[in-house]
This record gives sequence, C-alpha cells and structure tokens, in this order.
Amino acid sequence: MSVAKPVPHDSAALHVMGQARYVDDVPLPANAVHLAFGTSHVAHGRIRSMDLDAVSAAPGVVAVLTAEDLTHAVDVSPSPSPEPLLCGGEVHFAGQPIFLVIAETHLLARKAARLARIDIEELPAILTIEEAYEAGTIFEEGPRIYTRGNAASAIDAAEHVIEGSMDIGGQEHFYLEGQAAAALPQEGGDMIVYSSSQHPTEVQHKVADALGLPMNAVRAEVRRMGGGFGGKESQGNALAISCALAARLTGRPASMRYDRDDDMTITGKRHDFRIDYRVGFSSDGRIEGIEFLQLCRCGWSMDLSLPVADRAMLHADNAYFIPNMRVESHRLRTNTQSATAFRGFGGPQGMVGIERVVDHVAHALGRDPLAVRKANYYAPMGGEAQTTHYHMPVEDFILHDLTDRLVDASDYHARRAAVQEWNTANDVLKKGIALTPVKFGISFTLTHLNQAGALVHVYQDGSIHMNHGGTEMGQGLFQKVAQVAASRFGVDLDRVKISATDTAKVPNTSATAASSGSDLNGMAVKAACDTIRDRLAAFVAERAQAKASEVRFEDGMVHVGGESLSFDQVVKDAYMNRVSLSATGFYKTPKIVWDRIKGTGRPFFYFAYGAAVTEVVIDTLTGENRILRCDILHDAGESLNPAIDIGQVEGAYVQGAGWLTTEELVWDGKGRLRTHAPSTYKIPACSDRPDIFNVALWDGTNLEETIYQSKAVGEPPFMLGISALMALSDAVASCGDAYPDLDAPATAERVLMTARRVAS
Ligand code: MTE
Ligand code: MOS
Repeated sequence: MSVAKPVPHDSAALHVMGQARYVDDVPLPANAVHLAFGTSHVAHGRIRSMDLDAVSAAPGVVAVLTAEDLTHAVDVSPSPSPEPLLCGGEVHFAGQPIFLVIAETHLLARKAARLARIDIEELPAILTIEEAYEAGTIFEEGPRIYTRGNAASAIDAAEHVIEGSMDIGGQEHFYLEGQAAAALPQEGGDMIVYSSSQHPTEVQHKVADALGLPMNAVRAEVRRMGGGFGGKESQGNALAISCALAARLTGRPASMRYDRDDDMTITGKRHDFRIDYRVGFSSDGRIEGIEFLQLCRCGWSMDLSLPVADRAMLHADNAYFIPNMRVESHRLRTNTQSATAFRGFGGPQGMVGIERVVDHVAHALGRDPLAVRKANYYAPMGGEAQTTHYHMPVEDFILHDLTDRLVDASDYHARRAAVQEWNTANDVLKKGIALTPVKFGISFTLTHLNQAGALVHVYQDGSIHMNHGGTEMGQGLFQKVAQVAASRFGVDLDRVKISATDTAKVPNTSATAASSGSDLNGMAVKAACDTIRDRLAAFVAERAQAKASEVRFEDGMVHVGGESLSFDQVVKDAYMNRVSLSATGFYKTPKIVWDRIKGTGRPFFYFAYGAAVTEVVIDTLTGENRILRCDILHDAGESLNPAIDIGQVEGAYVQGAGWLTTEELVWDGKGRLRTHAPSTYKIPACSDRPDIFNVALWDGTNLEETIYQSKAVGEPPFMLGISALMALSDAVASCGDAYPDLDAPATAERVLMTARRVAS
C-alpha cells in the first residue's frame, strides 16, 4: 500500500532545483502585456480628481483603466457584499487599487503607476478596534452571541473572579510566491486563466462575471502555489480579473504579479482581535463560567470575515469544558486592508483567548498552569461525552492520554522545576516553560462547502491520471491523494500522474482550505478509483468465472481465482473489451448540521488534537528572547504520509510562534501600513526554529470514517505555537508578583515593558 508511507513531497526535487513552475514561470507569448495597480495613499476619502496623463504617456504604457472605463461594476469579493476592482468615488483604505496600468513590461507598468496625480478629499478614518467599537461600525446588524448555561450568574457565584483584556495582533501571510495571475484570450472570447489561487472555481466564477460570460467560457488552472496559508483564498481574484479584462481589451495575453511591498499593502491579513474576559473559578482551578467579548478587526470589506469570526467563537473553549459560557463577537469595519483567511481561520485567536484565561487563573491560584488545564479538560473519550458551548458532544477527546505522554516525553515536571531553580539563581536571564493543548474542529463551517469531486483516467498502458478539486500550496496534498489512488489500484506511486487543478476537469470545487483538502479530495479520488476498479474486477472475474469480490489488486498485480495478471495486462484486456477506464468521484462530509446564527449543532465532523511544550529564555534588560526547546505530540489520525505531516506540524508551529512573538504589523496614524517588507516585518528565519525540536505523531486513529482514518493536519498545529507565548508569560511572571498581561505579538519591546511592569 502506498498510504501511510513517508514518501517525500512529489515536487521536492523540483522545488530545491528551482524547476517547479509557478504562475510567473509559465512562458507567455512575446506579445504579453503586464499590469500594475495605482493605489490610494489615503485611508478614507473621496476622489476629487485624477490626472493620469503622465501615466498614459509613460514609456511602454498600452492603456490605463479606471472604474469609469469598466462597462459595469466589476466585483472581486468572495462574499455577498461587493468589492469593486477599482474604486471610483470613495476610497476605503490606504493601498486600495484606483486604476490599472497595462504596459509592455512589469517594470514599466509599475513605474508608470507612480506618475498619477490623484486628489483625494480626506474623510475621518476608522482605523483601530477601539475606534470601530466605539463608533459601532460592524458588519451585520448586531453582535453574534453563542451561549450555554448562565455565565454571568456562574461567575458571580464563583469563589474567585478575575477579568482582563488582551490584544492579539494580525499576521501577514508572507507566502514566498506573491500573488500572481495570467490570462490567455481564446477564440470566441473565451479565457484561460492561470492563477496562484487556493480557489480556482472562484477565479473562474469571478472572471466569468467580470467578462459577462457564462462559467463554461472560462477555464482556471492552478498547478501550485508557493504558499497560500489562506492568503490566496480570495486575494488573488483582483489579479485574475485584471488580467482577463486586459486580455480582452488588448487581445493579448496579460500577466500580473504584486511585488512584496504592493502585496503587503494591498492584500488582507489575519484579523487582529481584542478579547475581554471575565472568569469565575473555584480554588481547585475549575472554571465555572466565562464571558468573552471578541472584537475582531475585519478591515474595509466583508471578505471572509463572518466565518472567520464564527470560528473564533467556536474555539473559545479550546480543550476545556466550561459549563457556563457566553461569547459575544463584533465584526468591526475599519479603513484598513480587508482582513482575510489565515491558517486557523479565526480559531487561533479564539484559542489564544481561552489559553490566556487559563494562564491567568493559574497565576491567580499560584498553581502550575498545566494542572489547571488538565482540571478543565473535556471528559475523556469512551465515557459520556460533554458538549461544547455550541452544544456539540466531544466524543473523540484524547488529550488526557496525549498530554500525559507528552509530559513524559518532554520531561516536563523536572524541567519546570529546573526553570524555577534557574530563575531563583539568575536576575538577568529568566526562563519559562508551558504546555498548551489544541482541539481544532475539522470541516468548513459553511456546511455546503464540504464536498469534493475527482476525475480519474486509467490509460491503456496502465498509467493513471488523477484530477481533483484541491490545490497544492506546499502542504503535500497532491502526493497524499496520489498515494490514495495508487493504493486503491495496488500499484506503485510513480504510475500516478499528478497534474494541475483545472476547472474544466473537476467543476464546482470549494477552496482548498479548512485543512480539509485530503479529507475531501482523498475520498472523492477513492470513489473514482473504486468505480474503475470495480469495473476491472467484474471484467476479470467474469473471464475467470470467479466472484468480483474475490479479485485483489496488489503490488502491481491483479489476483483472481488462483491466477495473477499484471495490472497493465488487465487494463489492456479491459480496453480491448470496451470497458470504460475513466470515472468521476464525489464526496460530501456526513453528519454535519448546525445553525451558525444561533451557534448550536454539529459544525465539525471531528476534532484534531495536539499539544506542545515550549521552553524560552528572556533577557530582562532588553526583552530579547529565544525558544530553547520545543516538544510536540500531534494527532494526524492514521497519517496518510508521516513525513509530510511532520513537516506540516513543524512549519505550523514555527508560523504560529512567529505570529505571537516577532511578527508585528504597524499602521501609522493615517492608516498606512509601515511594515510592508521583510526589513520591518519579522517572520521567523531558519535560525529561529528551536535548537531542540522533537516532533512526533500520536499513534491513534480517527473515530470517524475519513480517508484511511487519517485526520486533517494543515491548520491545527499552527496553534501549538501558543505554547511559546505562554512560556514567555511564564518567564515574565518570574520577574515579580503581578500577572504579566502579555499582549501578542510578544515582541522584545513588549516582553521588556511587561517585565518592567511586573517587577515594579
Ligand atoms: N502548508 C504549506 N506548505 N503551505 C501553505 O500555504 N496552508 C495551510 C496548510 N498548510 C499551507 C500549508 C492552510 S491555511 C490550510 S487550510 C491547509 O494547508 C490547506 O491544505 P490541506 O487542506 O490540504 O491541508
Ligand atoms: Mo486555510 S486559512 O483554511 O486556507
């Protein structure tokens, strides 16, 4: 069997040799035009006048388009609330596209875009969470509220009550390949679009709308992305649409990519949050009730903010059974970039909120936070299931055992004692250690998205061609799904061709997101393969006068009634006997039904779990800090590919820790993003990963029927990075008696200020 094997990523060799093709590497005909946006320098205002003469007259410029030049309002939004491709009257954020330059080269387009003279009447801008909350600028009519029990009275009746507030910053995706697209005009007005997108069907749909064509006139293709991380679910639409419009206008192929600064200035990022909490708990650390206020900064447009904010609410419990809970969520509209999907999709922010609460409770009681965590865990799997605050039973809760195993493997207790000893003996360098768990819900919360299709062909020489709706962004989805196909036919992996995602092959796909890529597409490919396999089995069984159910496909052979034939021979014979060797497959996730307004029901098919122990050291004179060691035990069910899954866990942890420590987005008082390049925005470098980094996969299964009982792994380990923040909190707490109240990201500056505050 090809599943459960640690085979390398199918493009690993191409990646390291620089031969893997991304959108901008696709050779275009020599007459291609290149595009760039001219953008607003003002966060909120009304365009008084635009002088684009110098732009049009600049060398190499073919055409310049403004909103007025478009025949209809071209909408790039993934949500029901429209976002114009180019803004005409009102501008909503600094960086918003106002005009589109079409030129002979990329550089000439960018140079020309700078020559515009745009006069914008500035209007008052709402930039921060506080400003928006005060002004009440929210999407939807009012806040959304999920409740279970009576939080207020449980808190009032509790032995101890604490309250607090925490700021959690956003995050830039920093995919290595920036946003990019290209369009090739076809006969009769049809269009082929190459896009660096997690959502080819939406690109197809949006381009078709922009061109006034039916979807069948547009084909979108995505071979791979150089990282997406959620940033290419909706943010690529504008480039793909621009290319299609330019291609139609000029009759020439069109190509567009953002330089890093433009990418960071124009596109959306992770939502930043402020989370206020009030908690009632007992002396033994049991939390009786919590009230959360989640303030979520969505930026200027709705984009994917509603489901992101929902997921933050759905993860406000993380691993803890909290009998009385109330979560109130405000989706704030501001004059900043449109916050969008980012690994975890709101889950991380919700989870940081509750982990902060547990940390605060433990500090108030003077107990090891791990003990408080365990005291509040959901009931273990096997017994009677407890329900979440959205009334879903937690039936697969493995964190008791998983935590114990990680505590042993990481030597947590001895190391915690050593950290305390160190801190007593040292004044300048202080250490901290923390174990945090993850329980992450798997399924799109927009239930209808939990479907997938596949198209599998077996050619007459026995080679296999596989297509499905998922996209490859480095996460190894294509390899995992190819392993499924090879396993179904009992053949070697190298027979299975992995090719680009293509809307003409598999239609109506969902975004590759919510970590569900292998769950959904693995099942769809399995269904398609099994259809063909059943036909082959019926064919050979009839010939051998055996039962089809007795035919086995193994090691490149087909065994029937004591006879063994090569797979190739069987395929060839089947073809000669006019057996169809091509099939589609379809899958939809069972069991999920819920009401996202009320917040009740079963939004998730199952949960993925994990836990991490992080040890850090801080310099109390400068605030500088390092992760010294990290130990992780993560649940990928019966992993489809342990090598790829461990890679996902490592990368996700580092990305999560980066979000909460060094990655800081700074807007100035005018709403201009000042951190728009790697010089000012600090993602973790290779040297920032922990020196000691022990990552293991939990050896359990998935209780639910998933593809080979595996579990989704793309996003859940991102939240293991929360252990780094909590370890920093532990280190800072050793500087004095007060609770650290550390905001995120815990940059060196914040660690220093908080350490000072705690010590004073
Ligand atoms: N891993 C890599 N290398 N690059 C990425 O862009 N995106 C993450 C995760 N892992 C990402 C990644 C996100 S946000 C998601 S939702 C999942 O992969 C999507 O892929 P999957 O559903 O196939 O796991
Ligand atoms: Mo991932 S944020 O669901 O693309």
